[in-house]
Amino acid sequence: MMRNRKREWFDDDSFWRELYPFMFPEKRFASTSQEVDQALKLAKPQGKRALDLCCGPGRCSIALARRGFAVTGVDRTRYLLAQARCRAKAARVRIEWVRADMRDFVRPGAFDLVLSMFTSFGYFDDKREDLAVLRNMFASLRPGGTFFIDVLGKECLARIFQPTKSDTLPDGTRLVQRHEVFDDWTRIRNEWILLRKWACEEFQVPPHGLFRTGTEGSHGSGRFC
Ligand SMILES: C[S@@+](CC[C@H](N)C(=O)[O-])C[C@H]1O[C@@H](n2cnc3c(N)ncnc32)[C@H](O)[C@@H]1O
Repeated sequence: MMRNRKREWFDDDSFWRELYPFMFPEKRFASTSQEVDQALKLAKPQGKRALDLCCGPGRCSIALARRGFAVTGVDRTRYLLAQARCRAKAARVRIEWVRADMRDFVRPGAFDLVLSMFTSFGYFDDKREDLAVLRNMFASLRPGGTFFIDVLGKECLARIFQPTKSDTLPDGTRLVQRHEVFDDWTRIRNEWILLRKWACEEFQVPPHGLFRTGTEGSHGSGRFC
């Protein structure tokens, strides 16, 4: 059950559906196995119960299930959960899918590992809401469990930053992305413009926080004891 809240950019399912081919091309699925192996190497979970928070189309959930984890995938976007179900069926793995907002989902003491992959954290203007997500992650871990958050560190971004970028799909659909870093490299504002033969669609993703990563890495993990 989803709580009634002020509508925000991530509540727009058409954003995820329209950008799906750009955000989740097959090569992203192909690299997931390696990504999950790296995450597991860093996180060193002590058990096999995993929560994939903001699981999207289930990339990491499926990779974890293939490694013997009992996985719960949580996401708020119906379209992406439908993709996840389909892919899990094709991969012949059983996963529990839950439609919920990351600010609400909590299952006390249920998991050995909580994963938040591919910049799925830091979405809220009110930082108390990000904190609520962290509290939920903490409460959902059993004592000694591990959380793993994969975000883009500002030092990494500074190295690769391009204010404007364009990609084209084989069907000719073009995506123009415009990014603006502001507030002294603490936040980023994104504009995504989809150009089709006769139509133009525009999505604006309000400011995200940028993360300082002491060692230039882009992952953070910790163990709650
Ligand atoms: C960039 S995608 C990452 C998907 C997945 N973690 C992966 O690695 O492929 C971000 C995901 O966050 C989900 N999301 C955004 N806001 C959310 C919220 N408030 N509660 C739950 N999920 C949310 C979106 O539906 C989307 O699946």
